[in-house]
Amino acid sequence: MTDYLDRIGAGKILLSKEPFSFDWTPPSLVGREKELMEIASIFIGIDNPNVSARVTIMGPVGSGKTVLAKRFSDDLIKKLEGRRKIVSIHINCRNYSRTSQVLHQIAMKLDPRHPERGFSAGEIIHTIRRNLNSHNIHLILILDEVDVLIRKDSSDLIYRLLRIDEGQNDKGYLSLILISQELSLMNRFEAAIISRLGMSNVLKLEPYDENQLIGIAKQRALLACKSGSVNEDILSKIGRYSAVSGDARMCIELLEGGIRRAEMNGMDEVRIEDIEPSQFRESSVEPSQIDGLLEHQKLVLLGICRRLKKKDNLFSGDAKKLYILVCEEYGVKAKGHTTFLKYLKSLEIEGLIDTETVNSNTGRGRTQNITMSNSSPAELENRIEKVLSRY
Ligand SMILES: Nc1ncnc2c1ncn2[C@@H]1O[C@H](COP(=O)(O)OP(=O)(O)O)[C@@H](O)[C@H]1O
Ligand SMILES: [Mg+2]
Repeated sequence: MTDYLDRIGAGKILLSKEPFSFDWTPPSLVGREKELMEIASIFIGIDNPNVSARVTIMGPVGSGKTVLAKRFSDDLIKKLEGRRKIVSIHINCRNYSRTSQVLHQIAMKLDPRHPERGFSAGEIIHTIRRNLNSHNIHLILILDEVDVLIRKDSSDLIYRLLRIDEGQNDKGYLSLILISQELSLMNRFEAAIISRLGMSNVLKLEPYDENQLIGIAKQRALLACKSGSVNEDILSKIGRYSAVSGDARMCIELLEGGIRRAEMNGMDEVRIEDIEPSQFRESSVEPSQIDGLLEHQKLVLLGICRRLKKKDNLFSGDAKKLYILVCEEYGVKAKGHTTFLKYLKSLEIEGLIDTETVNSNTGRGRTQNITMSNSSPAELENRIEKVLSRY
């Protein structure tokens, strides 16, 4: 009776879940060579005692802020092994949004025996400094989503932390990596803090482009999956879908979801229809948008959806043939070519499909390559069929 559990851990595709866990850091970053160089240049001299650095990383969700900070600090620690003892602590201020909580976390990570309560902020800072000093440790403190903390507690903590490093004999204890999505973060700081942080030390991350996202998905697939179980078509679909937002998290979730769906169906390979973006698409295409289309727009779109459920793209010539078939199925007369093209254009304007003019591969002229990055073809198909059956 428990056959239904057999698929759990059958591992037909997935070899290791690890690369999909939220705090896993990939061994190398895809497409962030320049940014890594930049952060390294801000940390120049860090192999010497008395030297510390400060950097602020900004960028939209999924642009790799957290992973960049973690990869860099881990690499640095390794590189300086035997030369300077460096410890990194990553704190997400969404989880610890008060100065006292953050300080407590730092003290505890440096010394797990640090007592739970009963100390003022000043006392904890003193303990932290003493601890770093006596063990001769340089701390890289990563304050992630720091805007949450600053909104709650203003910039008091940052100010105090910067002071750790400013006593006469107290130089070089602490490097600070601040991370924020909010580009106006700097405006919230007082001038005194801005000058200490250094306005020039702001690293802005751009959203990823399609190729970078394909690279990121590919890296995960290679590390997590059986070889050959995720082919290039799958990766490019993931890249195309996630390129709308440039969000690496979405790209990895699409891959993971696809693997789960394929394994659930007992497959040993991810299929193109397993990559389902619908759950991320709240904001773009609503299936209810279908209801407002003209009858023949629906028929054109239905043909396209049926093909895109199985394939990544199709050409306008095929879309026309599919449209004619759909018309036969519903017993209506197909419109002529010009009208068909007009409908195709209108579907694009509605944001339901994407088209791109390309050279025809059957020789003469140009054709249109049709894809769908804002919605799930299966979901739309469903909706269209329901609406059409009401006529
Ligand atoms: N350049 C990259 N190479 C490999 N994986 C990446 C890269 N950038 C982001 N990722 C992965 O994408 C996901 C989101 O990245 P993250 O650093 O959490 O983004 P952010 O902090 O900007 O929201 C994580 O799983 C991360 O490991
Ligand atoms: Mg992050």
